[in-house]
Amino acid sequence: MPNVVNPVDVSAEESEAKKDYYDRHTPHVNCEANAKKGDKFKVKVTLGKDYPHPDDHDHFIQYVQLWNRQTLLAEASFLSGTLGNTPGNVEVDFYIVPGGKMNLSAMSYCTKHGLWQSENVEVLVD
Ligand SMILES: [Fe+2]
Repeated sequence: MPNVVNPVDVSAEESEAKKDYYDRHTPHVNCEANAKKGDKFKVKVTLGKDYPHPDDHDHFIQYVQLWNRQTLLAEASFLSGTLGNTPGNVEVDFYIVPGGKMNLSAMSYCTKHGLWQSENVEVLVD
């Protein structure tokens, strides 16, 4: 079982001291705050805001998952070289069809630094 990191639980001092490390691994859920029941809804998951993550043969982002509470909705897998073997920021667009109010989060897995958790994002569904 990989180590799961949730940067929300990290102290402000540690977060500042290792801000590049936390930034490049932490997934973010980007979507509208409201959705329509039964309509296709776009959720973009991004990793890193200020710092790119390596894309080396032994160190890369292997997968990104989208969760609704405890339910896994979707997953995108990568191999090394997806970003051209140069540091970059993985980004995935998921399209889901909501059936009711959602509490979305994302997980990303780095082959060297384990599993990383996003913030939770509430989406109201009409
Ligand atoms: Fe890493």
